[in-house]
Amino acid sequence: MRIIRAKDYDDMSRKAANVISAQVIMKPDCVLGLATGSTPIGAYAQLVKWYDKGDLDFSKVTSVNLDEYKGLTRDNDQSYYYFMNHHLFSKVNINPDRTFLPDGTEKDSDKACGDYDRIIADVGGIDLQLLGLGHNGHIGFNEPADTFEAGTHCVDLTESTVKANQRFFASIDEVPRQAYTMGIQTIMLAKKVLVVVSGEDKAKIVKEAFFGPITPKVQASVLQLHRNVTVVADEAALSLVK
Ligand code: GLP
Repeated sequence: MRIIRAKDYDDMSRKAANVISAQVIMKPDCVLGLATGSTPIGAYAQLVKWYDKGDLDFSKVTSVNLDEYKGLTRDNDQSYYYFMNHHLFSKVNINPDRTFLPDGTEKDSDKACGDYDRIIADVGGIDLQLLGLGHNGHIGFNEPADTFEAGTHCVDLTESTVKANQRFFASIDEVPRQAYTMGIQTIMLAKKVLVVVSGEDKAKIVKEAFFGPITPKVQASVLQLHRNVTVVADEAALSLVK
């Protein structure tokens, strides 16, 4: 595991965008595993700037996102589809037919998850998986549990995750209680993993996830076993790590 120390959020975003753009330049037809949440927004904005300057070409890129809320339609401004479209897809020349997320409108969980695993297999797996880190150590929506789930599955969001995501919704009652998320095995099979973390409120979980015991209670801790993980974190997020 490589830890890259960034000065602040902007520096973290630029460094992460550099890693993603290197992937796109080295392999123009790569498969990017993408993430939502507030942390990657700056990196996406930086990628859009470089695209606007003519430095990046996404025309051959395929993307698969980590997760989607169950029950939200694509035009709901809180859906992850909407988020990705708003922050990246509509602003670069990625082929919309090559951008994939779990189908939040599919009521049959087994079908939604099976379909998504087939899509990931069909695109040939993930070259670079971008991840944020939840306050409880979740990656995607893999919440603290007794086991690691392999493939895409439907999760009941923990109360703390519902509360953490409340800030994006008009009221807590509107926060979906379930989501479809890529599983841990799929994430671990990505050739490279890039984790972005920012802020003092993440310092405790950074220490637990990357320097503590490997346990499904802190799902991100499994990344310690991955061969090619880069964590780009700002000083505040690394403040409890020597
Ligand atoms: C969300 C997403 C995760 C994200 C995490 C942290 O619930 N499902 O993919 O990494 O929570 O979000 P943030 O970056 O806003 O702290």
